[in-house]
Amino acid sequence: MADFRIGSIAGDGIGPEIVTQARLVLDRVAEKYGHSFEYVDILLGGASIDATGKPLTNEAIAAAKSCDAVLMGSIGGDAKTSPWYKLEPSLRPEAGLLGIRKALNLFANLRPAVLYPQLAGACPLKEHLTEGGFDMLIMRELTGGLYFGERHTTEENGVRKAVDTLTYDENEIRRIAIKAFDIARKRRNKVTSVDKANVLDSSRLWRAVVEEVAKDYPDVELEHMLVDNCAMQLVRQPKQFDVILTENMFGDILSDEASMVTGSIGMLASASLNDTRFGLYEPSHGSAPDIAGQDKANPIATILSASMMLRYSLDLDKEADAIDKAVDCVLSSGVRTGDIMNENAEGKELKLVGCSEMGSIIADAV
Ligand code: IPM
Ligand code: MG
Repeated sequence: MADFRIGSIAGDGIGPEIVTQARLVLDRVAEKYGHSFEYVDILLGGASIDATGKPLTNEAIAAAKSCDAVLMGSIGGDAKTSPWYKLEPSLRPEAGLLGIRKALNLFANLRPAVLYPQLAGACPLKEHLTEGGFDMLIMRELTGGLYFGERHTTEENGVRKAVDTLTYDENEIRRIAIKAFDIARKRRNKVTSVDKANVLDSSRLWRAVVEEVAKDYPDVELEHMLVDNCAMQLVRQPKQFDVILTENMFGDILSDEASMVTGSIGMLASASLNDTRFGLYEPSHGSAPDIAGQDKANPIATILSASMMLRYSLDLDKEADAIDKAVDCVLSSGVRTGDIMNENAEGKELKLVGCSEMGSIIADAV
């Protein structure tokens, strides 16, 4: 019997290519450290629509629940050309992703945004703003707020009207705040809680509950920041952040901004956790349908997501370190996929490779 059962969601677009490479790296880790991983293929998003007519099935949820953790590529297609987007919203690929997050209670979404020194040239900010690098973690609430509030569209007297509701109860806020403070303790002991408390009731409750939780963490510095100011501070002085704690919608927007500031979204991993060790791990980037199937995608974010999975769900820290180190070495050696090709900080000769070659080189470096 395998030591661990890993759910594998290849998904859509570049998903299958990048997951193949991450699995190659995981298999090399298993071989080297004497583990065995059993993969359970799970359909989600467009791939699931094509096979079953639905973006998420009960079988997929049951399969995911039977695993120790799930590794995912990406889901979704080109909204202009893909037939999936002719379906009603609840049957589109994204609904599958939101559905699995909810079904598995994955309320804590960890999105690190790190400036890699080897790729510092990719950062779009002026050098004096990023000197010494930055390393922040966005802790996004993932199963509440506007995404899951009641919504409807009506028409009254010929006037169309749409309603979305932003709801949080104190328990939902408390459990994510606790995760943020726990993680801050393993990092640089600072939490920036982001809200819109000058306008929204849900944000005022958010702020009050975060302050209650903070009392149990006197060693962690807490600051509150309004979301509009945070959007500005991310490009003004990204170094000031350690853990950013925020609700679902703000986190969706700020995490895209933070990843862009690193200049290399192809490098950024993410984890979505519930209150057990289980988690779903996926790159922060999307399914890039424009380059799908061309062996051009950067598999590093997925490989680093696999490393997060080893660390957070399977408790295999040294194995995770081995992957992180392998990626670091390969970057230092000048090997690059197209998306990070022109970003050489040290004037070294670079070598352009495709997705599968990048995967094999990293696997060999493990
Ligand atoms: C993300 C994505 C999803 C989200 C979409 C695909 C529904 O943008 O994971 O950030 O908004 O959560
Ligand atoms: Mg998003």
